[in-house]
Amino acid sequence: MQQKEVRFVYDIYHSIEALNKADATLLEQARKNTDTAYAPYSEFQVGAAALLANGEIVNGSNQENASTPVGLCAERVLLSAISSIYPNTAIETIAISFHNRKAASDHPISPCGICRQTIMEYQTRLNHPIRLILSGMEGEVFIVPDAAMLLPLRFTSDDMK
Ligand code: THU
Repeated sequence: MQQKEVRFVYDIYHSIEALNKADATLLEQARKNTDTAYAPYSEFQVGAAALLANGEIVNGSNQENASTPVGLCAERVLLSAISSIYPNTAIETIAISFHNRKAASDHPISPCGICRQTIMEYQTRLNHPIRLILSGMEGEVFIVPDAAMLLPLRFTSDDMK
């Protein structure tokens, strides 16, 4: 029998003020993008913003539906937009924030399982690590240097070869 340990190291900043200018700008944009969410059912508005390798910033937010499973998380709306507007362009960093209309929005949230899988498809396709900046509308900021850390033992296209 063997065991393997997976280590997961990420950075924690006390607030947006502690970030460098580029990261603070991207997080600020993700926070603004919570305003474009269509989330009348959950009232949980998620905003995302990506900085691409070509210097462009692309925006996304969650889009819900009366038929609950039809709804899309902000991260997958963002990735679909990037892939269609700037095909085959690597993503440097994605910032994710949220505005919960029913409770405080003062802690970081992390992408759901389906979004982790979707982010990893993009990262693998472009062969470029994606950094994540995670924070609410205020409070601590987590920086994950490589989205792969959020999905160890993942299923990839290599498994089908
Ligand atoms: N949601 C996101 O957009 N991203 C996440 O990382 C977590 C959850 C959305 C889905 C749904 O519209 C609402 O937040 C509540 O789950």
